[in-house]
Amino acid sequence: MEWNAKKYNTTHDFVFKYGAGLLKLLPKEQSKVLDIGCGTGELTNQIAQLGHEVTGIDQSVNMINQARESYPDLTFLQEDILYPTDQIEMYDVAFSNAVFHWIPDQNLLLKNINEHLNENGQLICEFGAVGNVQLIREAFGRELNALGASFEEPFCFTSLSDYRMLLEKNHFEVIEILEYERPTTLKGGKAGLREWMEQFYTEELGELSRNQKERILENMERDLTPSLWKEDHWEADYRRLRIIAVKM
Ligand code: BEZ
Repeated sequence: MEWNAKKYNTTHDFVFKYGAGLLKLLPKEQSKVLDIGCGTGELTNQIAQLGHEVTGIDQSVNMINQARESYPDLTFLQEDILYPTDQIEMYDVAFSNAVFHWIPDQNLLLKNINEHLNENGQLICEFGAVGNVQLIREAFGRELNALGASFEEPFCFTSLSDYRMLLEKNHFEVIEILEYERPTTLKGGKAGLREWMEQFYTEELGELSRNQKERILENMERDLTPSLWKEDHWEADYRRLRIIAVKM
């Protein structure tokens, strides 16, 4: 899927703003860091400002172009971590925020990361846990099913215990693994939910007629109001897994 990099950077800036908490987990000493799924490069830039030597990678050409425009002095590569080329070197830290749940083959992901970490290299990451944005996903699924369309989700939202096993199987020692609820305010007031849907379900919504799309979004707003509308904003039911693991 190609991303709307401009909207991601403005309306959905909470994605990297929440990621700032992860930066505190980076080593204090200067390290060589790979930022996997760097998007528009905001966190990559913050990693560089902490004094690390950082490379941001993303498979989206739009994101990489935007990142290069915003931070011309930093290194950004259009790369898919599942199929890394020789441009991906060896790193002390593999860092990633809000990306892993988009990657279907978690085994290959962790294997590739492990192979590109130096001895005792660390994986520091956060992404969607089991049950992430469940109310929103269920509401969307119901609407698509009512139209006779199937809802095949691209996401891989994993439980703490399953992910721990996956890490160990891929030769990581788990230092910390935390599963937590992170209710997330969507910008844009009443329009916040539909703007979020348009950013993250671009393809699915793009397959609908204008009327179908409008009806689905209206029904979702109606059905989700009791649970997710908080006075003047939507609060998405995010759940997160936060991980620090070391290459064994
Ligand atoms: C997430 O970051 O958790 C997420 C983003 C888009 C769709 C679903 C989940």
